[in-house]
Amino acid sequence: EYKYIHQFPLPIPPIAVPLTSYTDANKTIDFYQINIEKFDAQTYPDLNKTSYVGYNGTAPGPTFHMTKGREAVVRFVNNYDRPSSIHLHGSYSRTPFDGWAEDVTKAGQYKDYYYPNAQPQRTLWYHDHAIGITAVNAYFGQAGFYILNDPNTDVGLPSGEFDIPLMIAAKQFLSDGKLLSPELERVSLYGDVITVNAQPWPYLSVKPRKYKFRILDASISRTYKLYLAADSDPTTRIPFTVVGADAGFLDHAVASTSLVIAMAERYEIVIDFAKYGGQNLTLMNERNWQTNPDYPATDRVLRFVVGAGPALPTTDPGNGALVDGAHLANLNVPNSAAHPVIDHSFTFERTNGQWLINGVGFENVPNRVLAFPKRGRVERWELINTSGGWSHPIHIHLIDFQVVKRSGGRGAVEPYEAAAFKDVVYLGMNEVVANYAPWDGIYMFHCHNLVHEDHDMMAAFNVTDIDL
Ligand code: C2O
Ligand code: CU
Repeated sequence: EYKYIHQFPLPIPPIAVPLTSYTDANKTIDFYQINIEKFDAQTYPDLNKTSYVGYNGTAPGPTFHMTKGREAVVRFVNNYDRPSSIHLHGSYSRTPFDGWAEDVTKAGQYKDYYYPNAQPQRTLWYHDHAIGITAVNAYFGQAGFYILNDPNTDVGLPSGEFDIPLMIAAKQFLSDGKLLSPELERVSLYGDVITVNAQPWPYLSVKPRKYKFRILDASISRTYKLYLAADSDPTTRIPFTVVGADAGFLDHAVASTSLVIAMAERYEIVIDFAKYGGQNLTLMNERNWQTNPDYPATDRVLRFVVGAGPALPTTDPGNGALVDGAHLANLNVPNSAAHPVIDHSFTFERTNGQWLINGVGFENVPNRVLAFPKRGRVERWELINTSGGWSHPIHIHLIDFQVVKRSGGRGAVEPYEAAAFKDVVYLGMNEVVANYAPWDGIYMFHCHNLVHEDHDMMAAFNVTDIDL
């Protein structure tokens, strides 16, 4: 259904509220509960309701707002008939709480997950990770935002109602308003309908001032090259400022007129609507981008309806100057020249219809631990894509890394990527420096095209304090 484009407002997911908090002299632990359950929501006014299986009856799930230094325990109760496992993507959770794919919670059971909330401020997300059914579970609603704030590193960016999460996900609807299931997919599900916070092609009313958007690509298989243009002048790309990525603030602010974002990547951008009072701007998606198939409206994402009237004063909180190059964080970027040696090389390939890493899939239990990095060591990993026309966003659990080099496919590292710490890298052919910390234990790494992940492009590494 392409007839409701930009007709409905952007929904903002509800905020998760703790049921109780435990405090002693040194710390506070907030306790939350999330129920995994089936629910219906009206997506199209003249069609049936859409069925979801999600967190506390909303899709996206409730947004967690966490403060660095306050720990959390989240009880996930499985009230649905399929297994679940919850991964807090972007957290250096201890291994029992990391959503290991085989550590599933069955119908009628629950599991308590402990989250340390001790990392730099960042945009995380929580989503299902159950073995073999991650694509289906995430697609039907088991995904939500988890925002970690740190008042000590506040750099005066737009906050509160001017700090807006955007979960972009491409979907495919059946003619009765239900979602097409990705269950039988073995290659990819690109989707022809672009949803933001589960609403197809919404609009957002904004004031003529600065806003921060936390953008997440939660699609199963679609990657985007986003740009911003006024509806009255669609060929002129309006610059915005990239301030954050997967692991929080960039080293410095980077002005850009486009943003490449692949599955599970997060970027935080600031858009200044001051000059556009009374106009419509649209967040667009470039056509013919990589291997993504185009449909009539896959080139559009979200319309901004900018309120008329004079630009709001820059003395409003978060509406002040933000210049390209402004220092945002001390990232302690590892010096890649000091790590010329490639410690581990991983090839992402397609063999006999299976998606594999170094010839191994996650089902290959005896061989799936592909590396034993020593805790605390900085390593250089090379990720190689030999699967032909396919791209793979590779997510490495536990760690933040820096992309130091790209060769082949897409050419150079984008400036906003070079200034970032990441936990997903969109793979043409790259090298990555990985910094192992802080826990021992076994963790997954995998392609975040969820169909590839399920079939079976996922393996593991085991962080140890032994020199192997
Ligand atoms: Cu976002 Cu292993 O996943
Ligand atoms: Cu892949």
